[in-house]
Amino acid sequence: MDLAQIVSLSKRRGFVFPSSEIYGGLGSCWDYGPLGSQLKMNVKKIWWNAMTRRSDICGLDAAILMAPMVWKASGHIDGFSDPLVDCKNCQTRFRADNTESYLQHKKCPQCGSTQLSEPRNFNLMFKTHMGPVEDSGSAVYLRPETAQGIFVNFLNCQVTTRMKVPFGIAQIGKSFRNEITPGNFIFRTREFEQMEMQYFVKPGSDQKYYEEWKNTRLNFYHKFGIKKENLRFHPHGPTELAHYAKAAVDVQYLFPMGWSELEGVHNRGDFDLTQHMKFSGKSLEYFDEAAKEKFIPYVIETAVGCDRLILAFLCDAYHEEKLDEAGEVRVVLRLHPELAPVKAAILPLSKKPELQEIAEKLRSDLSEVVECAYDESASIGKRYRRQDEIGTPYCVTIDFDTLQDQAVTLRHRDTMKQERISLVSLAERLPMLLKNF
Ligand code: GAP
Repeated sequence: MDLAQIVSLSKRRGFVFPSSEIYGGLGSCWDYGPLGSQLKMNVKKIWWNAMTRRSDICGLDAAILMAPMVWKASGHIDGFSDPLVDCKNCQTRFRADNTESYLQHKKCPQCGSTQLSEPRNFNLMFKTHMGPVEDSGSAVYLRPETAQGIFVNFLNCQVTTRMKVPFGIAQIGKSFRNEITPGNFIFRTREFEQMEMQYFVKPGSDQKYYEEWKNTRLNFYHKFGIKKENLRFHPHGPTELAHYAKAAVDVQYLFPMGWSELEGVHNRGDFDLTQHMKFSGKSLEYFDEAAKEKFIPYVIETAVGCDRLILAFLCDAYHEEKLDEAGEVRVVLRLHPELAPVKAAILPLSKKPELQEIAEKLRSDLSEVVECAYDESASIGKRYRRQDEIGTPYCVTIDFDTLQDQAVTLRHRDTMKQERISLVSLAERLPMLLKNF
């Protein structure tokens, strides 16, 4: 399987389209289509529930635009940059720190010229202006990470929830980075969605919670079906650590282009709260009532890109299966049922009104409980293939026997097994089947 197959399936079936496609697209921007938007919703839901249904984590939805001082304090204005080199011959612009031909021979990766500029730091934040006047005083930034919204709201959340350290704040939202080398479909884009959680702990207990969160996050991926052999930890060495991190590990996934970061788990120490105290002049200390002491909590952060996780789920679920000796192949997305955009497809065997009537009523009843699709065009075999390709766990076929026995055929996506079950029991049975999938 290569990435092109995932890109093609995504376009063909309405998961992901190139942004502004009729205008030729916009570099590294993507739109989630009818199935993709539902899949994205489901990915966010499983992450959100895994975090906020714990008694020690609350949610937050902070604004994308923040006071510019936030980015001074966080280090993004001064340090969030990549070194860029311009080729004077072919005008290609590339990164100095990860371009092989430059690192080894000081040559342009495009034309091989050695007529190159010195590396210059290029800040990755998108800048815009607030209000009608475009002067330096009105400059604001689109946030490059959601984390800072959590740090500046640390005490607001703590005071209003009355949670005691250790506790966490979870947030899902858009982030923007003017990446020099975006690419690999939705893996690296300039506009993306992050799912971040900051867990505030007492200094000294940070290493324990760092280890705990590494395992919690890995188990999350196992639970939702990502194959164990496609996941690994990559601890950061001293030269890889971000300016704020005391310790960090990437959860890597084996994407079609190789092992790459899916999620970061970081021990950020007290860097962020201390910086915001310094720059805002406001105390962000926590008062431990039991011990009658004040301290600045340390932070364990888990940070994953929603879009990147969608790509991992799609890659992991994608299977091509040979069905017979003649070489017929079925494409099946073995998505975890909680992720599948459609849970059940209702398929009347023919377009006869008496079958349509039952099928339409069933679709309407079941839609109260789960996401359903209705399809009455093409042969039943073709319709099963369509549903396999988008990961629908169950198909329900209404045939002429249904008129007599009030039963339907339930077809299982992964085994392709079929069983006859009573029409009235479906609304009750389907959620159970999905739960115990
Ligand atoms: N607050 C810490 C932070 O933002 P990061 O490692 O820069 O850490 C966390 O980002 C996660 O966000 C990454 O592991 C990745 O999944 C996702 N991410 C980062 N940049 C991205 C981009 N340009 N496109 C898509 N996802 C991205």
